[in-house]
Amino acid sequence: MNRLRFASSCLVAAVVVFAALSLAGCGGKSSSSASDDGASSAPSASAPAPASGGVLAKSLYDDGPRAGEAPLDAAAAAEGEKLFSSKGCTACHHWGQKFTGPNLQGVTQRRTAEWMRHQILHPDVMTKTDPIAHELFATFALQMPNQGLTEAQATQVIEYLKKRDKDGK
Ligand code: HEC
Repeated sequence: MNRLRFASSCLVAAVVVFAALSLAGCGGKSSSSASDDGASSAPSASAPAPASGGVLAKSLYDDGPRAGEAPLDAAAAAEGEKLFSSKGCTACHHWGQKFTGPNLQGVTQRRTAEWMRHQILHPDVMTKTDPIAHELFATFALQMPNQGLTEAQATQVIEYLKKRDKDGK
């Protein structure tokens, strides 16, 4: 009896999640706000990645101002700096050049804070479902591991990345 109720509430939850995803997936117009308005090197216009499984046509987390447009929390950035090395990020990410992971210089000008938060907290989900992370995965041929940060720690690391971009070094 309890199991049945549990199973059916799971089903309801799954349906709700699916509905939310499809709504979000269809809601976007196809404009690519991130590119320089149809400059010659713009990526092909109609490009929902036809990839393996459930990669969405449009990122759920990349709408809105870039992370670096928000004011900086300097105290959080100082904590984030420590986490960036203690949590192993430096093993794959260098500043100013690609390494085994993407060059993080400028990342707060190309992504929203929300997108980065998801990438840091759920990198495995992101490469499977988010078109931006999926493309990075294809480029780097490496899955970024989940480094076990809490949400608060992810925010601190993002503040640190913002600070580096603002300082330009
Ligand atoms: C084992 C290597 C590795 C480690 C450790 C790692 N990353 Fe990554 N990271 C990657 C790779 C590879 C990608 C590209 C997506 C993918 O393939 O998973 C990525 C992508 C990212 C991105 C998106 C970059 C962009 O251009 O949009 C951010 C932000 C990021 N990582 C932050 C972090 C932070 C913060 C940590 C530490 C908590 C971390 N990474 C630890 C390999 C790593």
